[in-house]
Amino acid sequence: MKIIIINGPNLNLLGKREPEVYGDKTFDDYFADLQFRFKTVQLEYFQSNIEGELIDKLHEVGFSYDGIVLNGAAYTHTSVGLGDAIKAIETPVVEVHISNTHQRESFRHVSYISPGAKGVILGFGLQSYDLAIQSFLEVH
Ligand code: DQA
Repeated sequence: MKIIIINGPNLNLLGKREPEVYGDKTFDDYFADLQFRFKTVQLEYFQSNIEGELIDKLHEVGFSYDGIVLNGAAYTHTSVGLGDAIKAIETPVVEVHISNTHQRESFRHVSYISPGAKGVILGFGLQSYDLAIQSFLEVH
C-alpha cells in the first residue's frame, strides 16, 4: 500500500506558524510518528508552496499510488487547477485540514478540492492525517 501526503503552502512552517490554530509540532516530527504507526504502509511526504509543483506531483503519483492525502492549505480555497488535477487522476484523494475551516473566515468555507475528493476530514488537528490514512486501510 503506497500512500503520499501532499501539503500545500505554508505547511512547511507547522510548529512555528500560528500554533494556537495549527499546534506546535513540526510536520517532520509528526511524519516520523505516522511512519511508526503505519508500518505496513509505504508512506511518502511532499510539500510545496508553489501551486504548479503540487499539480505536477499529483500527476506524477496519481496513476500508480493507492492513496493521496491532500492538504491544499490556502490553495484549497482558490485553485481551480488543483480541483481539476484531482479529477484528472485515478488515485483517490482524501482532503484534509488541520483546523475546522467551517469555524473560520467565510473564504475558508469554499473548497475547490472537495468536489473531486473521495472524502474530507477536517478539524482534528494533525490527527486528521491519521484518520485519512486509516480510511484507505479500512474502506475498500
Ligand atoms: C488549512 C486551512 C486553510 O484554510 C489554511 O489556508 C491552511 C491550513 C488547515 O490545515 O487547517 O494553510 O488547510
